[in-house]
Amino acid sequence: MSKLWDRMLLVPTVVRLASRAPRNRDTAWEGYWQGIRATGRSGDVLWDADSMAERAQYSDAVAAHFDPDLPVVDVGCGNGSNTRWLAGLFPRALGIDVSTGAIERASKEAEGIHNAGFMVLDASRAGAGELLLERLGPANVFVRGVFHVLKPDKQAAMAANLRTIVGNRGRVLLAETNFRGNSLAYLTELGASPQRMPAQLQRALENLPRPGHFGARERHNAFPASDWKVIADGPVNIEVVPMNPGGLSQWVPGYYALLSGTEGSRTGQEP
Ligand SMILES: C[S@@+](CC[C@H](N)C(=O)[O-])C[C@H]1O[C@@H](n2cnc3c(N)ncnc32)[C@H](O)[C@@H]1O
Repeated sequence: MSKLWDRMLLVPTVVRLASRAPRNRDTAWEGYWQGIRATGRSGDVLWDADSMAERAQYSDAVAAHFDPDLPVVDVGCGNGSNTRWLAGLFPRALGIDVSTGAIERASKEAEGIHNAGFMVLDASRAGAGELLLERLGPANVFVRGVFHVLKPDKQAAMAANLRTIVGNRGRVLLAETNFRGNSLAYLTELGASPQRMPAQLQRALENLPRPGHFGARERHNAFPASDWKVIADGPVNIEVVPMNPGGLSQWVPGYYALLSGTEGSRTGQEP
């Protein structure tokens, strides 16, 4: 059977599952996280491969450009896998997420890690940047897999908050999925077929808004050149949990960018 035909046969299943997803995005995320039973490579969360192989792609940039004396904020931290990794590298790691369920889970999973903390916060809301700056001072920012799930106006609002958080010393490292085909191609690439829908994909489809992609063009729009300098950017591979019967590693094409604020462009007060 052709790939195109396989994709067409998926349409009814995808439409049925996606029709259950709440329209309000924050409600959708809350429902998603409340329903999660297990995380990590064999868990329910599509993107939580907890992959050191993926992180190895970011390590050099983080080591070379993040000031090691600053705290780091993991924006849209989910269950906090990356916050725990960052807590091993920086004096303090704070994971923030719009979902209470995510933050409860992240806090539990990080029990015993004294320098990891978590907070419920919509990182795109007005004042979120000032709130974090007041609490932490200037900080580095790590963001994985958040911009591609936001609408352009929220992407711009979140980036503006990040500008406040980084001040003159912090840096942003973002890593986003950037699959350029359509949703059906994306699903089949991840292992969906007319005969089989992996449980992690099904859970995402029936709970979450449809993700977009985030590459250089989207980053350029959300992070204007008047406020941001791109230190480095390019392709990266994002690891998702294995969903194939053989349990082999699965990767999605992605985009990363390392950014600093331009001189004199930040809002809020510099401590
Ligand atoms: C695809 S998940 C990625 C989670 C985590 N960064 C990771 O890589 O494992 C996107 C996360 O962003 C969170 N999120 C979505 N919109 C947000 C917002 N406006 N502010 C903060 N977190 C948000 C969701 O609740 C979810 O946990």
